[in-house]
Amino acid sequence: MHEIQYDELGQYRHFLSVEGSSEALLTKLLDDTEQFTAVAERRVKKLPLLNGKTIVNLFFEPSTRTRTTFELAAKRLSADVLNVNIATSSTSKGETLRDTIANIIAMQCDCLVVRHSTSGAIHYVAEHTPAGIAVVNAGDGSHSHPTQAMLDMFTIRRHKQQFTGLKVAIVGDILHSRVARSQIHALKTLGAAQVNVIAPLTLLPKSIETLGVEVHTSLTSGLKDCDVVIMLRLQKERMNGALLASESEYYQQYGIDQARLKLAKPDAIVMHPGPINRGLEIASEVADGPQSVILEQVTYGIAVRMAVLSTTIANQQQQLNNLATKIAETANNGGLA
Ligand code: NCD
Repeated sequence: MHEIQYDELGQYRHFLSVEGSSEALLTKLLDDTEQFTAVAERRVKKLPLLNGKTIVNLFFEPSTRTRTTFELAAKRLSADVLNVNIATSSTSKGETLRDTIANIIAMQCDCLVVRHSTSGAIHYVAEHTPAGIAVVNAGDGSHSHPTQAMLDMFTIRRHKQQFTGLKVAIVGDILHSRVARSQIHALKTLGAAQVNVIAPLTLLPKSIETLGVEVHTSLTSGLKDCDVVIMLRLQKERMNGALLASESEYYQQYGIDQARLKLAKPDAIVMHPGPINRGLEIASEVADGPQSVILEQVTYGIAVRMAVLSTTIANQQQQLNNLATKIAETANNGGLA
């Protein structure tokens, strides 16, 4: 489904989804990320890898962490970054996604980082982007958010060393969560032993168990023996009906506080992609507590995005070079005569 994201050697030329990627490819991305974390410890936090390249951040939906860490990642690789503010752009004058993209491409950029409220929109952008330009998914509808999943995998690997044998719980609004979907694919591919999804039935997508997860409607059964607890935000902006009795009832049953966290393993880590809603899905004592790695996730987001940007842009460049060599060879052989 996402074949378009690979070049002829099976490497990423776009980064659209973790679904269908091999364990080797995801592990390589985590290993590359490991190298890039070291850059932040230098006195000058910069590498010249993408010097002279232009990266455009095109966010059709609100974002704090994802957009700023993509920008920082690009700057730490010495690229030039353009942030297009959609609220003040021509989209509000009725321009289509295709026309906006065509215009940005005409500005001769090397990479588009796109977030959109429609599932599948970034795939569409990749299909309409010429060779040489990488497209990176920064979240599409409730479909996928691959860089978030990879920064989560990196955080888990840092704390638990390996995925084999791990039991992971994902709690909350699974129905609307692109983060949960990408995390499930990544965890299953990387070999996590068990993934539990915990939510009221109204917030669970139909046939979620076909992804190989265990479905729980209670924290008591779902958190048992878990090494990792991932909390999700209630995506009220994507809910168009009454899916919850009340927010306080939700917190009573699915919110995590220190007492409920004890249902998981004593050394479990607590994660959340942000933005967190204190007192709605997570208590401050947990969000700010010793088991929380929520802010570490943000830090690692920069290195993961450095790995994704440098890989996709380099592979696009390599493809262009291969194409140029082929054309030159054909011309030398008289093929273009
Ligand atoms: C998430 C998103 O936008 O999908 N946040 C993020 O990217 N860090 C999750 C959310 O909005 O709840």
